[in-house]
Amino acid sequence: ISSLEVDLSGVQEGETITVKWRGKPVFIRHRTDAEIAQSAEVAMAELRDPQKDVDRAINPKYLVVVGICTHLGCVPIFGAGNFNAWFCPCHGSHYDISGRIREGPAPYNLEVPEYRYVTEEKIIIG
Ligand code: FES
Repeated sequence: ISSLEVDLSGVQEGETITVKWRGKPVFIRHRTDAEIAQSAEVAMAELRDPQKDVDRAINPKYLVVVGICTHLGCVPIFGAGNFNAWFCPCHGSHYDISGRIREGPAPYNLEVPEYRYVTEEKIIIG
C-alpha cells in the first residue's frame, strides 16, 4: 500500500503529471531533449544543493520528484519562475527542470523519492 505503480506510457513529451504517493504529490515530467541537455550542462558550482541530473533521474527522460517545497512545504507550480520549471509561490523559490533549487529561500532540491523501473515505461514508487 505504500508503493505506487505508475504507467508512464501515456505521459507525452513536455507533459507533467502529478500522482499521489503516501499522501504527498509526486511530479513526473516527461522531459524534452532540450531540457535533458540543459539539466546536464549546469555547473555544480552554480547549485546550492549540488547534485548531477544523472544522479536524480534513473532515465533522464522522466524526472520523478516529490512535489513539496523544501522551504516550508508548499506545493510548487510548474512552468513558472526564473528557470521556467517549478516555482513555489509561498516565498519565491525557483527550481530548475531537474527540480534543483536555484533561487529563493528553499535549502534543498526537490526530493527524489525511492523508485524503480519495472518495465521501460512503468515505475514503482516506494
Ligand atoms: Fe516554498 Fe517557502 S514554502 S518558498
